[in-house]
Amino acid sequence: MSRKKIVVLTGAGISAESGLRTFRDSDGLWEEHRIEDVASPEGWKRNPELVLVFYNQRRRDVLNAKPNKGHKAIALLEEKFDVVVVTQNIDNLHERAGSTNVIHLHGEILKSQSTVDAKLIYECEGDILIGDKCEKNSQLRPFIVWFNEAVPMIEIAAKEVSLADIFIIVGTSLQVYPAAGLINYIHPTVPKFLVDPNVPDVSYVRNITCIAKKGSEGLPQIVEALLKQV
Ligand code: OAD
Repeated sequence: MSRKKIVVLTGAGISAESGLRTFRDSDGLWEEHRIEDVASPEGWKRNPELVLVFYNQRRRDVLNAKPNKGHKAIALLEEKFDVVVVTQNIDNLHERAGSTNVIHLHGEILKSQSTVDAKLIYECEGDILIGDKCEKNSQLRPFIVWFNEAVPMIEIAAKEVSLADIFIIVGTSLQVYPAAGLINYIHPTVPKFLVDPNVPDVSYVRNITCIAKKGSEGLPQIVEALLKQV
């Protein structure tokens, strides 16, 4: 018998307990930085150095962070399910926890990208500096999808979501589109679970069980229950 498919949509909250700050909580990154300055093509044009400093810090933080119980619980699902993780996060903590099928909607901080040819993407563990160039001799930028930019992975993610037998949402305020709109691709009868200490409004979603807990507590509970069912 073929395995059931679980799609997990994650946001910054799942990495909060690994020490990576979320965006919109009270101590979130957007309290200290203006989105339009550091996470938009316009900000990059105005002051690329400021943008590089912001993402160089994000990269250092990710390199110092470790996956937590929430990431590990999601990886465990692969023992019995076909699992796709659709993440808004730019860190690699899902991969380091053992998840093998991760779709990054908003890019990956451990990669850089050419500013003349978006297909030129490089592994990047150190800082990106002004003057660092791609093979076509143009400045490198972080491989991040900024506001006002297209989200190239959204169609692949939507297809996966539409095929889910079970859907899990964790650690996202569901405020950023098109990622938040992925919920509309799930079949209404599919069982859904949401884990977040501060549950966002999902009153419009059918068949959803909300668990008002941190990822490290709520996810192991759900995962244990799902693994027992098979
Ligand atoms: P947000 O900062 O908007 O939301 C974080 C969510 O995580 C909130 O709902 C918190 O309640 C929840 N949370 C906090 N601690 C948690 C924990 N320990 N366990 C589980 N949940 C917890 O982050 P995102 O929804 O991921 O995009 O933000 C979406 C996008 O907005 C990001 O990918 C980023 C940002 O601007 C770009 O930069 C393009």
